Amino acid sequence: MCYAIPGRIKAITGKIAFVDYFGEERKALNEMEELRKGDFVYAQGGYIIERIPLAEAEEILSVWKETFFELQEADLRLSRLDLEKAGIDRKLGFILDGTIAGRPLSETHAVYLLGRTDPRELDLIFKSANFLRQKHLKNACCVHGILEISNACSQPCLYCGISTHHRTLKRYRMTPDEIVENACLAVARHGFKALVLQSGEDAGYSIGELASVVRRIKAKTPALIFISFGEIGFHGLEQLYEAGARGLLMRFETSNPALYSNLHPGSDLETRLSHLREAYKLGYLLITGGLVGVPGQTREDLVRDLFLAKELHAEMMSFGPFLPHPNTPLKDSGVPEENDILKVLAVTRLLEPTEARILITTAFETLSENARRKGLLAGANSVMLNVTPAQYRRQYEIYPNRAYGDDGIEKQIEDVVNLLASLGRAPTDLGISRAQGRQPRGFALGTPELTG
Ligand code: 5AD
Repeated sequence: MCYAIPGRIKAITGKIAFVDYFGEERKALNEMEELRKGDFVYAQGGYIIERIPLAEAEEILSVWKETFFELQEADLRLSRLDLEKAGIDRKLGFILDGTIAGRPLSETHAVYLLGRTDPRELDLIFKSANFLRQKHLKNACCVHGILEISNACSQPCLYCGISTHHRTLKRYRMTPDEIVENACLAVARHGFKALVLQSGEDAGYSIGELASVVRRIKAKTPALIFISFGEIGFHGLEQLYEAGARGLLMRFETSNPALYSNLHPGSDLETRLSHLREAYKLGYLLITGGLVGVPGQTREDLVRDLFLAKELHAEMMSFGPFLPHPNTPLKDSGVPEENDILKVLAVTRLLEPTEARILITTAFETLSENARRKGLLAGANSVMLNVTPAQYRRQYEIYPNRAYGDDGIEKQIEDVVNLLASLGRAPTDLGISRAQGRQPRGFALGTPELTG
C-alpha cells in the first residue's frame, strides 16, 4: 500500500528540487547529494524523502495514472461552488464572497462565521471551504501514521486521560527495539511515508534514547519522522533534529494565557509557544492547534487559536473536540457538537486557503461517525491512522472510547482508502510545503521567489 505518488525530478536548483506529478510541478527540499534530474522520488511535507528505482516508479505510476485524473475530476465535481444565496444573510454572503475572491478573513468575521447555526448557512460555509481546498490544494490528502510509544506522563493537565489525575491507568512504555520495529513495520509493510512518534510528557526516555530511536528508524527507512513528546526543551529539539526528526507535533491547546494556566497547572503558554517557535527556527515542520470546547473557552478565544496556528507557520493544523474523561477534574463538562467542529475546520480553511493541511482528528472521529467524510467536505485534507500495537492502543486513553481502538492497521487503511476514493481524493502528499519559505538548518536556499 502506498500513500504517495512518485514524482520525477525536472530540475534541481541548490537545495530545491522541482518535481513533476502528471504535469503538475511542485517544489521540495532535497537533502540527498546523489539526486539527479530524471530521478523518481517520494516527497513528504515538502521534503524529498526517498529516491525510487525507475522500474518501481513506472509500475506504481502506471497504476496511478488511470485513477489520478478520474479522482481529480470526481473531486472537482464534488467541490463545485453552486452557492444558492437567495434569502441568505447578506453579511454571510459578503464574507464568503470575500474569502473566495482571495480577501483575507478578519478575526471579527471568523467569530461571526463560528456563530452561524442555520443549516443552510452552515452548508454554504462548508462548501466555500471545500471549494477553496480544491482550488488551491487539489485532491491530495495526507495520510500519516501515529505510533503512541508510551502513555506515561508527569503532567497534571485537567482534561487529559493520561495525565497524573488518572491514577488507575495502566502505564506502558515501549522499548526502543519495539518502537523501531513498529515504526519500520508501518513504513515498510504498510507504506506510510510520514510517521508521528508520540508519548506523554517525561515518559521515561532520555533525549539520548529518543535520538537513538529516531536515528535507528531513519537508518532503516526513509520516512519523515514527527516527534510529539511534549516540552523537551530547546536542546532536546536540537538533538532530535540532528538525529533526523523533521517534524514536531505539539498543540498549544489554547491561545488564552489565563485559560492555558488553568488547564495546565504549573505550566504557561509562553513556554509552550517558545518551543514551537524554536522548533520552526530549527527547521521542523509543525503540526499544531488546540482543543475545541474546553470549559472557559469563548468563541473569540477559539478564533485567536486559529490565527495563532497560522502565525506559528503550522504545516498542518490540528483542532479537535475536547472529550471529557471520567478520571479527570473536567469529567462533568459538556461535549461540542459535530457542527461546532465542522465550523472550526471550515473557518480554518477560509483563513488559510492556500497552504495548510487541515487534520481530521481522531477525537472528532470519536465524537461523530461521519467526521471524516464531512470534515473532508468542509475544508480538511488530512487524516492520521493509528499504528500503535493492539496491546497498547486502548491504554493511550486521552479520552474514552477512542475511534478505531481495536481496528487493525489493514482495516484502517482499507476504510480510509475507500472513503478517499469515494470523494475523489488521492492519498498523497503533493503539497508545496511551508518549509520552502525558510531556511532549515543545513540548507542554503538560493532562490528568493520561494519565500512565503
Ligand atoms: N479530549 C480531546 N483531546 C484531548 N487531548 C488530551 N486530552 C484530551 C481530551 N480529553 C489532546 C491534547 C493533546 C493531544 C495529544 O491529545 O490536545 O495535545
